[in-house]
Amino acid sequence: MDSQVLAYLEENQDQFVEDLKTYLRFPSVSANSEHIPDMKQCAEFVRNQLVEAGVETTIVETPGHPIVYGRWDKAEGAPTVMVYGHYDVQPPDPLDQWVTPPFEPDVRNGQIYARGATDDKGQSLTHIIGVAAWLKTVGTLPVNVIFVIEGEEEVGSNNLDHFLESHKTELACDIAVISDTSQYAPGIPAITYGLRGIMACEITVEGPSQDLHSGVFGGSIANPVNALAGMIGKLHNAEGRVQIPGFYDDIIPLTEEECKQFADLPFDEAAFMKEVGVSTGWGEAGFSTTERRWARPTCDVNGFFGGYQGEGPKTIIPASATAKITCRLVPGQDHVQLTAALNKFFKENLPAGLRMTFTDYHGCPGLVFNTDSPYMTSAQKAIEAAFGTAPVMIREGGSIPVGGTFKEILGIDTLFLGWGLNTDNLHSPNEHFSLDSFQKGIAASAHLWGELAKIHSS
Ligand code: BES
Ligand code: MN
Ligand code: MN
Repeated sequence: MDSQVLAYLEENQDQFVEDLKTYLRFPSVSANSEHIPDMKQCAEFVRNQLVEAGVETTIVETPGHPIVYGRWDKAEGAPTVMVYGHYDVQPPDPLDQWVTPPFEPDVRNGQIYARGATDDKGQSLTHIIGVAAWLKTVGTLPVNVIFVIEGEEEVGSNNLDHFLESHKTELACDIAVISDTSQYAPGIPAITYGLRGIMACEITVEGPSQDLHSGVFGGSIANPVNALAGMIGKLHNAEGRVQIPGFYDDIIPLTEEECKQFADLPFDEAAFMKEVGVSTGWGEAGFSTTERRWARPTCDVNGFFGGYQGEGPKTIIPASATAKITCRLVPGQDHVQLTAALNKFFKENLPAGLRMTFTDYHGCPGLVFNTDSPYMTSAQKAIEAAFGTAPVMIREGGSIPVGGTFKEILGIDTLFLGWGLNTDNLHSPNEHFSLDSFQKGIAASAHLWGELAKIHSS
């Protein structure tokens, strides 16, 4: 790579951290309507960073949060790369568990602490800087880039599809790059060639028209909380298999080679369980922990409420109960079909005398990409140049809805190049991101443009 680019990266490291801090100060919580003004300001900040870098950028309004859309397309004949990221973050709760406030970035032991540090502000900023490094030194980029930085990833990317569909022609490109995943472990960078999909819903079970005295009425009418707990209890059998009819029917199984590759990765089962604070694992019988996390589907309750939540006892039959549920899906499973199957499963298991409502929030398919494409090779080289080690090829259990949409609407694969770590506390209190990974991610991004440029010209 051009020595001017490297020198620029070297000389401006402190400024990059300052920019990241500014980015992290916006409380851009997409789930919470009180943050709508913060979302707008944060989108404005991202736009300015891109404009500063030399990328022409506009803010695209949606019925939800705005999309930041930038493009630099002066590399005639060279590949076009779609860079996707998200500026929205998860809610910071529980607030009392943060050592320093979630929107006041703090550097401790080489880690920057703030909500969004790794997911996805720190990671996505690396590409804006990686592009700026070329444009501010060489004055040009060897590839064309399109930036789409959205504000609704954490709530299911519901307005992004429309933007992609309606701008399909001008968004035509060769490959997408997303840094919103993790390295395999400290010192072991990774390319994620597969992700799980998701389906998210909520079920409410209602019984009596208001809370009732549980002595006067208990035993004579169904209790919505008991009932919903029972329905949830039927979701798995004793082998940890999900009991929704048809759930496993269309799954594309892991290849023998993948199973072997998974097994060959260094993994300390006991340390993993200790890290998360449990004495032993749980899951579908017949699969390893890594297989369960990356390539097997799940069904989990994310929130469950109903009845009295205050201090001390209270003797009531609650009027209703609600559960928030997500299933992680793997390639082959259809989230639309399975959402309907889950709704049906609950209806069939609803005790007499109760009513239920089912809300479908969002869904996206599981992904798996071909690992021997020239794009993968370019990414491997760029990562090796920046991190000093070649990346391992992994799958991950999280979901990034846009990966499927890019495939479907634009017909392109995605390179998931994660600079984070699964121990960065994403979605948890004290989220953080290694500043060393931040700088290496920036360097990998700068290398990547040069590597990808060789594909069409070689
Ligand atoms: N960046 C994560 C996804 C992720 C994290 C993938 C770590 C692999 C490793 C993303 O922001 C996220 O949280 N996605 C949600 C998607 C959902 C809200 C549609 C998820 O996976 O829960
Ligand atoms: Mn993310
Ligand atoms: Mn996330």
